[in-house]
Amino acid sequence: MFDEVTMAAPDAILGLTEAFKKDPNSQKINLGAGVYKDQNGRTPVLASVKVAEQRILDHEDTKTYISPNSGTAEYAGCVQQILFGADHPIVSSRRAVSVHAPGGTGALRLAGDYLKSNHSSTTLWLSDPTWANHGGVFEAAGLKIKTFPYFDASTNSLAFDRMIKGFAQIAPGDVVLLHACCHNPTGVDPTIEQWQQMAGQLAKQGVVPLIDFAYQGFGDGLEQDATGMRTLCDHLPELLICSSFSKNFALYNERVGALTVVAGSSAAAEAVLSRLKVCVRRNYSTPPAHGSSIVTTVLQDRELRRQWESELKQMRDRINGMRTLFADSLSARGVVLGSDGENGFIIRQRGMFSFSGLGKEQVQVLRERYSIYIVGGGRINVAGMTVQNMDNLCDAIAAVVREDG
Ligand code: LMR
Repeated sequence: MFDEVTMAAPDAILGLTEAFKKDPNSQKINLGAGVYKDQNGRTPVLASVKVAEQRILDHEDTKTYISPNSGTAEYAGCVQQILFGADHPIVSSRRAVSVHAPGGTGALRLAGDYLKSNHSSTTLWLSDPTWANHGGVFEAAGLKIKTFPYFDASTNSLAFDRMIKGFAQIAPGDVVLLHACCHNPTGVDPTIEQWQQMAGQLAKQGVVPLIDFAYQGFGDGLEQDATGMRTLCDHLPELLICSSFSKNFALYNERVGALTVVAGSSAAAEAVLSRLKVCVRRNYSTPPAHGSSIVTTVLQDRELRRQWESELKQMRDRINGMRTLFADSLSARGVVLGSDGENGFIIRQRGMFSFSGLGKEQVQVLRERYSIYIVGGGRINVAGMTVQNMDNLCDAIAAVVREDG
């Protein structure tokens, strides 16, 4: 059976982590996968998470399956509280159901499986560009996929008018995937006014948004980052939201996320939930418990939640500090990456990533000659930059850009 199997291409993002680990260069810099690193280049366990884990260890008395397999009511309550804020009418009217999924990617696949099994004629529309794994996840679920314009490379900004024109092609009942904040890979998000226009247009057309919400708290704050998604909720009766605690709780390897579906009524939401439970059962049966226990423990304890929010703010502030230092360090070397002749776009982008404008070949040279690992499309993980590695990074980029130019 296996003799004829050939090697698959390495994953566009995770493959970089594997290659980086094998690279013997002591000056190597990993700016690939979206993982936060502190000023020492480490990805520590948050202090609030450590306290929660100790409590769980002290009090946990069973490892039996989570039941129902959609997850506990406590976890669902925490997910919805973070997404919608306190006292949102969607929550009080029970129009939302949340399913505990293994990470944000697990939530996306669950959404894909649900759509394929229950709304098989729907087409899923992805932004161009989007996260390198979106296409693969939804193709594996068997969905038809199309794209709409998102990014304007000539201005390093949102191609808003073209995006709205692109929306006009989308049929009623189709699903459009939008990034709630910190767009991956571009770091370019719509303004609140643009979200309002997008919501109006999608509502007029009867299109259902699927929100990928992997970076809540990494843009401008937990509440601020939810504004776009909540604006859509104000205008549209139905949404799917895939959220993740991988990044904002630094719980990457615990695989803790959720799929939340907002329906037109509580009865419709309950029916969707029953269908989602079938999808879960056929895929991984029941979710893993540890990560969701941590999240629930932290979010249900006022003091731990306060501590977590301050740890999240520290991560966000460090990333934004690195954006400024990166832009300034490039400018100090006479290197300009912005198409407008400036590096200010790097500071304006939100979240972990900067869509640098570096081309495929430049990315390859940076990797081969300088052991600097960046995703092929030129996406740089700003959260991997430190004061220590900044000069080497910018010297290398300066050399590569000059060579080309
Ligand atoms: C990324 O985009 O780098 C992260 O979401 C990690 C991943 O799984 O690709």
